[in-house]
Amino acid sequence: MGSDTNVVVYYGPPSWFEEQLGESQRQYLLDLLNERDEARRRIRHTVDGQETSEEEVATSRPDCVVAMSSDYASVHEHAITNFVGLVRELNPKHLLLHNPPELIHTQLDRVFTTKVERYTYPVVTRDTLIRFRDGFADHLVGQRSVRERMLAALYPLTNDKRSKPVVLMFYGPSGVGKTETAQFLNGLLGGKLMRKQFSMFHSDKFASYVFGGSHSESSFARDLLDRSSGVILIDEFDKANPVFHSAFYEVFDEGVFEDKNYRVPLGSTLIICTSNYGSEDEIRKALGDALYSRFDALIRFESLTADEVKEVINRLVDACFQVLSSDEQAILDKEEVKLMLYAHASSTSNVRKLRKLVDEVISLKLVRATLNDADASSTATSTK
Ligand SMILES: Nc1ncnc2c1ncn2[C@@H]1O[C@H](COP(=O)(O)OP(=O)(O)O)[C@@H](O)[C@H]1O
Ligand SMILES: [Mg+2]
Repeated sequence: MGSDTNVVVYYGPPSWFEEQLGESQRQYLLDLLNERDEARRRIRHTVDGQETSEEEVATSRPDCVVAMSSDYASVHEHAITNFVGLVRELNPKHLLLHNPPELIHTQLDRVFTTKVERYTYPVVTRDTLIRFRDGFADHLVGQRSVRERMLAALYPLTNDKRSKPVVLMFYGPSGVGKTETAQFLNGLLGGKLMRKQFSMFHSDKFASYVFGGSHSESSFARDLLDRSSGVILIDEFDKANPVFHSAFYEVFDEGVFEDKNYRVPLGSTLIICTSNYGSEDEIRKALGDALYSRFDALIRFESLTADEVKEVINRLVDACFQVLSSDEQAILDKEEVKLMLYAHASSTSNVRKLRKLVDEVISLKLVRATLNDADASSTATSTK
């Protein structure tokens, strides 16, 4: 009974799923479940109060029922394990599911004819490589060898027969362009960069995040399903507890991420892990041979040279001046500011710190000038 429900399962980002739905009439699974529970409560009340003649809940057959990626979290665990029962009870003509847990998909597959639609993720093409090569220096000062090694590492992704991801480890000091490189490349491909900071998770929460927990908990797998980007960035890989390393073997080998609830085929995507390791040797010792050998390339980011630091300062000061008012610009001598910063900056090549330094120096000069002005004019008026 009810097995004529037409099921379509969509895997991809929420915005894409919304597009697929278009303007069509729909009812949301969660709303229907709430209404059903509400109706049951009413019936129970009338039974208790001996007023059995209350209206029967008239249920017309829903035309199109939709469940979003985040909805399964609010559905009871038993409804998920018996999802087929639920669908039969609601008996919609069309059921459209967005990024459902694997268990739901396999159950439905056995009983209904289910169709699967997948989002097409942006892929690296020859054109991407050219734009990466030509645009690199606009985004990053120095790191020339990174540019060359990246081009080589990305090349296999241009083969449309490839079905596995390319997995890269960026390593080197902080603030020299690792995240920026990932963002630049993702900008070329499009989609919002999926970026996960592995240091942010405390180990107990992180276990269910990586290996899967109850449906209501957030998970890496569901975030992967919801992503729209061609690049997956795992920041601060060195800060993750080593017990999680095993979760990545299969992704790196087969391009499939599986946890307790979800199965995510990644295809020929780019996975970038970043870390502050100092050398390949250190990486192998810290991650172990099994994981170390699974990286397609380990790409070293260097500290910036003194000349490169100057170039960064020039760019930062120029950018800063762009947003100042003409009054403010008149107060400052740009070249003098730069010279002063060169002298101050000798101790760091962390661009994040350099940016703070530039902002601070410019603000300080501006505030001094304005306060001195005010002082001068107030002395001027008081002596009048
Ligand atoms: N080599 C570089 N040239 C120009 N800007 C840079 C460079 N390295 C980093 N930056 C800038 O500094 C900030 C921090 O860089 P980020 O890439 O996040 O560093 P990390 O290497 O720690 O990931 C970003 O705003 C980035 O644009
Ligand atoms: Mg970073």
